[in-house]
Amino acid sequence: MKTSQYSGFFKLSVDDRMKEVAEFTGISEEEQAILQDANSLDMDKADHMIENVIGRFSFPLGVAINFIINGKEMVVPMVSEEPSVIAACSNAAKMARAGGGFTAHSLGTVMISQIQLLGIAAPNAAKSIILEHKEEIIRRCNEKDPTLVKFGGGVRDVEVRIIDSIVGKMVIVHLLVDTLDAMGANAVNTMAEAVAPYLEEITGGTAELRILSNLADHRLVTARATFKKEEIGGEEVVDKIINAYAFAAADPYRAATNNKGIMNGIIPVVLATGNDTRAIESGAHSYAARSGRYTSLTTWEKDENGDLIGMIEMPMAVGLVGGATKIHPAAGVVVKMLGVKTAAELAEIIAAVGLSNNMAALKALATEGVQRGHMSLHARNIANTIGAKGEIADKIVQAMVSEKKVNAEYAKELLEKFSS
Ligand code: MEV
Repeated sequence: MKTSQYSGFFKLSVDDRMKEVAEFTGISEEEQAILQDANSLDMDKADHMIENVIGRFSFPLGVAINFIINGKEMVVPMVSEEPSVIAACSNAAKMARAGGGFTAHSLGTVMISQIQLLGIAAPNAAKSIILEHKEEIIRRCNEKDPTLVKFGGGVRDVEVRIIDSIVGKMVIVHLLVDTLDAMGANAVNTMAEAVAPYLEEITGGTAELRILSNLADHRLVTARATFKKEEIGGEEVVDKIINAYAFAAADPYRAATNNKGIMNGIIPVVLATGNDTRAIESGAHSYAARSGRYTSLTTWEKDENGDLIGMIEMPMAVGLVGGATKIHPAAGVVVKMLGVKTAAELAEIIAAVGLSNNMAALKALATEGVQRGHMSLHARNIANTIGAKGEIADKIVQAMVSEKKVNAEYAKELLEKFSS
């Protein structure tokens, strides 16, 4: 494969798909073997990753194709158990090509670490005392991570909030820490624990919780794409997609499902790169609720030409150093395939994939519904399972879908019929 666009990619065998993707991404035979070996994470490594290990558990790894992100042709590795997701976002990525693909931009790699101070009689005075000692707080924190500081990271700022709670007012200190290419949980938690006694000393309060916030709103990423109206079925479809978006923007029940569809694209890339999927989920949903009402992570508008423009903005706390990204051999190969050198670049790709999944879902829902597409994929899986190949498999899939009889029994009947 010379570009990320490849028609009929899904019809290739697993090995042929791997050959094409290896040629495109430049991964070696050894790296291909790592991706194809369900045991590439050896038992010893697994046993050191989490507690009470009794085995390992594997999921399929696929690639989304057709992507252009920031001008670069890309295939995107994704780990998922859900059929249709990879097909859907590949399809949306194809529709985005005429508009130049996706433009994505990371707005920084700053994490928030929170320190909760209790027992403070005059919170406003405490706030000003903390801010007066900002330089010393920053010095004490940075001292804990000289490597991060050496590479240009470290604490950028200190903020203080006073919040009302059922147990009275609390003073909450935020350390804003640039963790660069690390997700940074360990670094910022260490800093919060280290500086807490000093905050107690200067305020007279008691430091209780000292932990990062997953509402990583200083680590946002945006991605946008223009879908030319003629690529997606005309201006009527553009309007229908905007109506579908308007529903999610106005209603939390719909927004939850809309955002689930976005996470269908995001989480498989986060997982394939060995990053913390729960951190991303919690960041996404808390950001979607930041106004006090849960809403869509994307917006959809029509431009002056009648084309559709989608935009996503959300926290994306992913890293390339530390954690499972470095330990899991397959995650290392996935990062190589993506060709990313920084966590910011990885975040940009992930956001583009999330936006494309949202586009695919909204287009399907606003036009024919999702079931026909699901049924075709389900039918193809069944045809594969019963050993049908090539044109015969295509005919079986077509017959099952058009007659709305998608099951293995009928597939076997059709196989006999078309083979004779
Ligand atoms: C299913 O996994 C995802 C969708 O429900 C997303 C959506 O409704 O936008 C199709």
